[in-house]
Amino acid sequence: MMPDCLKRLRGLVLAFAACNAYAIEPVKVTLEFQPDPDNGRYVFEICARCHLPEAWGDKEGNYPQLAGQHVNVLMKQLLDIRTGHRDNPTMLPFVQERTIGGYQNLVDVVAYISTLPMAPIHSQGPWPDPDSAEYRQGMRLYQAKCSGCHGASGEGVDAAHYPRLQGQHFSYMKRQALSVREGLRKVDPAMTAVLDALSDDELEKVLSYISYLPVPREDLAPSAEWRNPDFQ
Ligand code: HEC
Ligand code: HEC
Repeated sequence: MMPDCLKRLRGLVLAFAACNAYAIEPVKVTLEFQPDPDNGRYVFEICARCHLPEAWGDKEGNYPQLAGQHVNVLMKQLLDIRTGHRDNPTMLPFVQERTIGGYQNLVDVVAYISTLPMAPIHSQGPWPDPDSAEYRQGMRLYQAKCSGCHGASGEGVDAAHYPRLQGQHFSYMKRQALSVREGLRKVDPAMTAVLDALSDDELEKVLSYISYLPVPREDLAPSAEWRNPDFQ
């Protein structure tokens, strides 16, 4: 029987634009795939060389926490990196069709990653105290400027590919936010506008607040010593 967590992956939809030779108008094609997480586990071996078998990322923020991220977010990022829309020279060679295969393998690896429990500990910002002025300012900024897309608790929106920010490393979020502001990472222009309007100080506070948003217990691994049994 298929576990509950995978049922929601049925009918994952991919959309991309192609060029019609006559009209030169973009053509939108929608493809549906049935994910096979068992095959995804094999595909993930190549990813685990950098992301490690738990896909938890690192405190320095060089790698993101991938575990627990929404399937449509992971898929969009993979396609963006594969097509060069998101610049990631380190990972690029490993997501080419000739290294990890076609769309079915991407769907499968994403399905596999989404079954992994999240790290119980992640890097956090400088203001843990909910009574501090900095935390409260971060909270107000988050609610006014970010929660409309990333959700009241940072849970994201799978279908709209708004990333889940709960549990993401503070250091990684900071690096991403700065690269959006420097124009290096292209994202939804509405988010770029919001980030551009924040001072460095406000950005630090809002990201610190996000890093203390609680992750539902059931999504977390039992301990920081948990190791992915598929890779033992
Ligand atoms: C050579 C190392 C390397 C390999 C192999 C690799 N990655 Fe990555 N990946 C990275 C780095 C580094 C980043 C962060 C890039 C940045 O800072 O913008 C990243 C980012 C990502 C992201 C974006 C997540 C987010 O929330 O921003 C996804 C999704 C991802 N990797 C999935 C995969 C998958 C799936 C594979 C295997 C097919 C893979 N990666 C293989 C290095 C690697
Ligand atoms: C209009 C919707 C929208 C708003 C408002 C918005 N975001 Fe985003 N955010 C997105 C989308 C969409 C992405 C994924 C971009 C992509 O596709 O590469 C994203 C990505 C991110 C990421 C990178 C996550 C990752 O896993 O790579 C961070 C960090 C982030 N947003 C923080 C914020 C903060 C902080 C605010 C408020 C100050 C904010 N966002 C406001 C839509 C939004």
